Amino acid sequence: MLDQPETRTRSIADLAPVKNDSLLALIDLASADQRPEKIDVGVGVYRDSAGNTPILKVVKEAEKRLWETQESKSYLGGRGDVRFAELLRPILLGEHAGDERIAGLQTPGGCGALTLGFHLIKAANPDARVLIGTPTWPNHGPIVRGCELEIVEYPHYDPESRTLCFDRMVETVKAARPGDVVLLHGCCHNPTGADLNPQQWAEITAIIVERGLLPVVDIAYQGFGDGLDADAAGLRGVLAACENVVVAQSCDKNFGVYRDRVGSVWFKTSSASATATAMSHVLQISREMWSMPPDHAAAAIRIVLDDSELAADWRVELDGMRGRIATLRQRLAAAHPRFGYIAEQKGMFSMLPVTPDQVLKLRNDHAIYMADSGRFNICGLSDEQVDRFASAVLEAIGG
Ligand code: LMR
Repeated sequence: MLDQPETRTRSIADLAPVKNDSLLALIDLASADQRPEKIDVGVGVYRDSAGNTPILKVVKEAEKRLWETQESKSYLGGRGDVRFAELLRPILLGEHAGDERIAGLQTPGGCGALTLGFHLIKAANPDARVLIGTPTWPNHGPIVRGCELEIVEYPHYDPESRTLCFDRMVETVKAARPGDVVLLHGCCHNPTGADLNPQQWAEITAIIVERGLLPVVDIAYQGFGDGLDADAAGLRGVLAACENVVVAQSCDKNFGVYRDRVGSVWFKTSSASATATAMSHVLQISREMWSMPPDHAAAAIRIVLDDSELAADWRVELDGMRGRIATLRQRLAAAHPRFGYIAEQKGMFSMLPVTPDQVLKLRNDHAIYMADSGRFNICGLSDEQVDRFASAVLEAIGG
């Protein structure tokens, strides 16, 4: 008779529950709330003045052309739509577009880009530590940890003064070890809206060079701050100064193709051949993870950018989204002096001085949905919701 094992081996049924990512949980909570007065400023999606997240006109037109002309859905290969990346290249890299030491490929959204970038860093230097700001986008930490890299936090934002705490950031970055990684937000900082100014970009870039650090620039909102070129200026300064750079980019927001998941990852090294070798690793890593990226949105964006008229129309639509965000920032800042800082920041997000209990009370009493941290999506507000939102928040914080 076979010996019976003394203890049962552990299996998938034995896993302890995981606490859901709070932003994903918030999407479910907000959609389940049927109160007509609901204000959803939780997850970061652009909404128009009527509160809708429409498909951009240029994307609709491109999808129509795609439907009419696409004759096959056969595989494209691990790089995805190569022309998509070629067309994106000058928009993202500007004056560095012709640099042969920089190569990139299509990824499933910004998350895919970050994951590929950090896996490559882990393969190249398993001892690298990753400096991430506090606060930062809640998925940065899990992605970095998922790549089995150690995290070191640097202060990014002072909740008391509602401004960037640059001096403390510099102090931490200066203390990093050569080979460590610094994760920077290219523009429109998520969750605070507090970006580095051009002098601060220059200063942090100089420290990165001096200390032999590796910058990873996450740029998910290009065009939502001051414009496509202005929003990429910090990144381009990093590319000018640093030998090795990783860039994680997303089109989900600036083309409004959120659920279709499209972005790109870019690597700069000291030579075109070292970059080609790095790319061969990247392709192997992505092969293991998703094999080939999904095509639809990349194909639609390729059609937009390959047609000068559609490309110009996209810029107009993007200007419209940016203009609306700026107007909402001004309206909130004008609603009460306590909101004045909101006008100084960039992009979709800002933080309110609310406690988690106040966030819950806003949800229960006013059907207002925002992250527990007090982060709210400014352009989640329809035009008619702004005043009601401002007074409900002021009531909650005793303003
Ligand atoms: C957000 O921060 O709300 C968006 O980037 C959505 C996400 O994936 O978290």
